[in-house]
Amino acid sequence: MTLAREFGTPLYVFDEETLRSRARSIRDAFLRAYDRTRIVYAGKAYLSPALMRILVEERCGLDVVSGGEIYAGLVAGVPPSDMIFHGNNKSRAELQEAVAAGVGLVAVDNDLEITLLEAVSRESDREIEVVLRLNPGVDPHTHHKMRTGAVDSKFGFPIWDGQAASAAARVCESESLRLVGYHAHVGSQIFDPLLVEQTIDEIMAFAGEVRDRLGATPEVIIPGGGFGVADDASGGDVSIDEWANATARAIERGCLRYGFHSPVLVVEPGRAIIAPAAVTLYEVGARKTIAGVRTYISVDGGMADNIRPALYGAQYTVALANRDPEGEQLLPVTIAGKYCESGDILIQDAMLPALDAGDLLAVPMTGAYCLAMASNYNLTPRPAVVLVHEGRAILIRQRESYQDLLRGDICTEAADISMDPGSLSAGKRSL
Ligand SMILES: Cc1ncc(COP(=O)(O)O)c(C=O)c1O
Repeated sequence: MTLAREFGTPLYVFDEETLRSRARSIRDAFLRAYDRTRIVYAGKAYLSPALMRILVEERCGLDVVSGGEIYAGLVAGVPPSDMIFHGNNKSRAELQEAVAAGVGLVAVDNDLEITLLEAVSRESDREIEVVLRLNPGVDPHTHHKMRTGAVDSKFGFPIWDGQAASAAARVCESESLRLVGYHAHVGSQIFDPLLVEQTIDEIMAFAGEVRDRLGATPEVIIPGGGFGVADDASGGDVSIDEWANATARAIERGCLRYGFHSPVLVVEPGRAIIAPAAVTLYEVGARKTIAGVRTYISVDGGMADNIRPALYGAQYTVALANRDPEGEQLLPVTIAGKYCESGDILIQDAMLPALDAGDLLAVPMTGAYCLAMASNYNLTPRPAVVLVHEGRAILIRQRESYQDLLRGDICTEAADISMDPGSLSAGKRSL
């Protein structure tokens, strides 16, 4: 209530303690299972310099997928050697930026990238350490838009048809690249740790073949992230201990079978670290009841700040945040966003007390892939973000202004208008 009054809505509220304890508990679980583990946070889930600084203190590296993410990581103080550069179409400029910044490892995704990296290495006179992104053909049984390791995927070198073996040969023969290991992230929102075990078995078998043919032994194995997290805050998340144990089992089995020394294990959780650390606050606006059908309650945000219900069918929960509804009758409502799309529904069937315009709703578990995918659809400023710690809230991202929305636009006859979100004072100044 106080936060909404001070910072406005929609508002993303991150809790520092939750963020730290998520990172710590994942790290501890993996170190218990396999002591050569490094945690590398997947920045695509949400990369805020202020939050990343906290994750650096918790000894997380950073998985980046663009020049912009490398820049944000550097701003946050991530040592470049702790970054891993992913992506299925890294540009030459981005590869140059990564190498110039000293990014530790590049996950090579395709043949063009090998060519580009060799050129970048020659220009910069630096040897580049790479892992090969493999496509093991493992179907993670998750939403089809979150699958990355099934046969039909744009990511990685397929193992089964010899493309991965050719790529390994190219890298091993290269004078400027050094093959240090393998990567395979098969998807997100995975609730069955056996899938990761199966993926690592495939990686290790491939590593065994490469060692036999080309002599390269794996120093690093990266089975990605993808730990399943219940969007509805029901607590039905995958067990990190089981995941860590399955991972360790598969690596140790592979080492025994193929005679490898224990490689470094890198895990790249995004959602599991950051999703539970945020709650979104929205203000209730219009109500529409269609007799015998449903009641829509519209809020002041929606798909432009959280596209996940529309994109993935994600099912969040919602609670009344500005008063205690104890004893009030709960009624079925659908929480709609404010954007001009019928698909802009945040929560299909919620049970809430009777709501009035001005009431506040809180949607938990919104730390991952919400702000990271946020847009200015309908020319709407993206929300403010605050970080709460020991009862104090600090602003870590300003709400965008109308000027921010048009910052890149070029219009020679533009009128000079002074107008801010929420202000009634729209004045027109002469040019
Ligand atoms: C290579 C890679 N690593 C890690 C992740 C993080 O996945 P999650 O946020 O589900 O843990 C992703 C997500 O797409 C990814 O592509």
